[in-house]
Amino acid sequence: MANASGFFTPSVPRLGTKIQPFTGISRSGFCFSRRVVCSSAIEGAEKHASPSESRVPKLVSKGCKLVGCGSAVPSLSVSNDDLSKMVDTSDEWISVRTGIRNRRVISGKESLKNLAVEAARKALEMADFDPNDLDLILMCTSTPEDIFGAAPQIQRELGCKKSPLAYDITAACSGFVLGLVSAACHIRGGGFRNVLVIGADGLSRFVDWTDRGTCILFGDAAGAVLVQACDAEEDGLLSFDLNSDGEGARHLGAPMSDDKTEELLGSNGSVLNFPPKRSSYSCIQMNGKEVFRFAVRCVPQSIESALEKAGLVSSSVDWLLLHQANQRIIDAVATRLEFPQEKVISNLANYGNTSAASIPLALDEAVRSGKVKPGHTIATAGFGAGLTWGSAVIRWG
Ligand code: ACO
Repeated sequence: MANASGFFTPSVPRLGTKIQPFTGISRSGFCFSRRVVCSSAIEGAEKHASPSESRVPKLVSKGCKLVGCGSAVPSLSVSNDDLSKMVDTSDEWISVRTGIRNRRVISGKESLKNLAVEAARKALEMADFDPNDLDLILMCTSTPEDIFGAAPQIQRELGCKKSPLAYDITAACSGFVLGLVSAACHIRGGGFRNVLVIGADGLSRFVDWTDRGTCILFGDAAGAVLVQACDAEEDGLLSFDLNSDGEGARHLGAPMSDDKTEELLGSNGSVLNFPPKRSSYSCIQMNGKEVFRFAVRCVPQSIESALEKAGLVSSSVDWLLLHQANQRIIDAVATRLEFPQEKVISNLANYGNTSAASIPLALDEAVRSGKVKPGHTIATAGFGAGLTWGSAVIRWG
């Protein structure tokens, strides 16, 4: 089991040529030090330098804040009643066991990339921000439409003239939380200023629609948040706690199909092990009970750890926003952490489990409806395949 409780090593700055070691780790887990030296063209690097600290940019004492959000969902809505015509289930069973009533599914000419671009544009619009000023795009997804990732294509679709760095992060339903923390690390340690974090998944494409144990759960969506460098006092990522446990991978996955990868082409009756057959991924396989147990055990611990690092208790946090997997999981975690119902954000009734998109989608709806206001604090947590899970305490706006 691995745990990253807030420590990080500054990434190589884009324009840097020289790096010196840094010291000091703040209460929130981030590094605050004047010793990190990245000789680069970073704004203000030389202007205010003392002789002993020449060319020392303030790379790691910055905060980062969440300044815009957006989301997008496919047009096709599939209700529990629709599913009950396909598999042996009912609206009552699904809604009582999961809280889900509808989900959106990519269809026709829709694509995950376009949903991600739409969500990104809305986030940039909310922040009144020009895509040309982006430094980095992080696309958190496990279902890109190209095995090599989607982020550079999103960069192109957004028309970013300066070609910001763009890459994918794969961490299933924890992807968005990991993306948020990665954005903060790039800002604090790497000199990046404007980072777009997108969570988007099209799990419907990897669902066995004849398996009533899984097909009732998942939907497709995209959500995005713009994270911006700011002064430390305005900091909006107060703490985090990240974990993974490969032992639990057997409980939830969509592995490469064995029959295609292990069957090897023979020649003249002999097995050559080459060339391998073209491979594909199997549908999502899940032990629901184990995943449920894992979530209600590990997520509260992770949030408690993040709250402690932020010096907060649940009663002083405005909102609890969990990955939207199952209302029973959300309720169990909220009860354990003593969050009253009215402080819990939930929209999975309408969308089901949208994996990496679920947190930014729910956040976007809560911000646009006026529920979440600038200055509000949110304890958020993602969890899922890997197994991976992680929490962050954030401040909106
Ligand atoms: N409709 C009707 N009956 C059903 C259905 C269905 N859709 N699915 C299962 N059943 C039946 C089962 O066959 C079983 O019948 P039996 O008692 O005759 O054998 C009975 O209902 C109970 O099945 P369980 O699987 O034990 O049901 P459970 O209460 O555990 O609920 C569920 C299943 C909803 C999947 C739950 O386990 C769950 O939500 N787990 C967490 C899943 C999750 O969050 N996964 C996503 C992680 S995120 C990511 O990374 C992708």
